[in-house]
Amino acid sequence: MSVDLEKNLRPVDVPFPPFPAKFMTLADGQEMVIRQIGRDEIPALLPHVEPLIHVERDFYDIVAVRVYAELLSYYRYRVQDEYVLVAQIDGELAAIVNGRRVNADVGMSFHTLALRRGLRIGAHAFAAKMEYHIDIMGQKEVLVVAESPIGFRRWMIEYQLEKRFEIPHELGGVPSYSLTKELFDRARGSLVVGRRPVPEHLLAKAKAEILPPSDPPMPPLDVLAARRAKSDPTAFKNEADQFSAQGRK
Ligand SMILES: CC(C)(COP(=O)(O)OP(=O)(O)OC[C@H]1O[C@@H](n2cnc3c(N)ncnc32)[C@H](O)[C@@H]1OP(=O)(O)O)[C@@H](O)C(=O)NCCC(=O)NCCS
Repeated sequence: MSVDLEKNLRPVDVPFPPFPAKFMTLADGQEMVIRQIGRDEIPALLPHVEPLIHVERDFYDIVAVRVYAELLSYYRYRVQDEYVLVAQIDGELAAIVNGRRVNADVGMSFHTLALRRGLRIGAHAFAAKMEYHIDIMGQKEVLVVAESPIGFRRWMIEYQLEKRFEIPHELGGVPSYSLTKELFDRARGSLVVGRRPVPEHLLAKAKAEILPPSDPPMPPLDVLAARRAKSDPTAFKNEADQFSAQGRK
């Protein structure tokens, strides 16, 4: 009975070609691999997305909470035709991008989340995702929205995306922008980088394990917390006072 019900709840994905892994040299000389992952690797991502839900800066919170839901939806078969790409440096998780095939001509860009800052890692991962839709899936356009000013600068301005305001985007129903094949062709020379095939040792390292990001965005430290606690008249002066107030020895 429950097996039958699960069949109704679970969408059947339309087959689409896989993303061929690529690699690129970052501005600081490190090599970054971008590859597609399947459902089996989603649990390795979730613990690194969850803490970002508490980072308000640059809108990491709203993006992370949505990415978490999208990853879980993919893992638990509650979304139609989603894919997930990861960027890794020396195995370390550097970015996550995802999206969805709407139909043969149209793609839906979900999110881009950079877990290491300042090297255009998010920009490179976004370009790989657009390449997936336009070159690999052969779609005519990808619908995109931005949830942060940096995102708006990176996608709408750098690619000069076209307005498709009559189409509500799947992320919150807000007006969509479109990256067309023509716009992508124009950006190829400058914004889209990377080479194939990925050298065997780089790919093996990336596939071996998704390592935690070593310098992820963090919420600001509450530097005044210690001072506030010290002068808090309701605070216990020591452990013995606390225990006796609580009726403990
Ligand atoms: C949008 C995003 C993917 C872009 O990633 P990116 O291309 O790797 O760019 P970064 O975020 O590292 O840097 C963006 C700018 O902020 C600056 N910056 C911000 N924080 C920084 C930090 N801690 N260290 C270094 N630079 C930083 C960079 O110098 C850069 O400036 P530039 O645009 O003049 O080059 C990334 O900012 C991100 O994940 N943001 C939160 C989620 C989000 O908004 N996603 C997009 C939804 S539309």
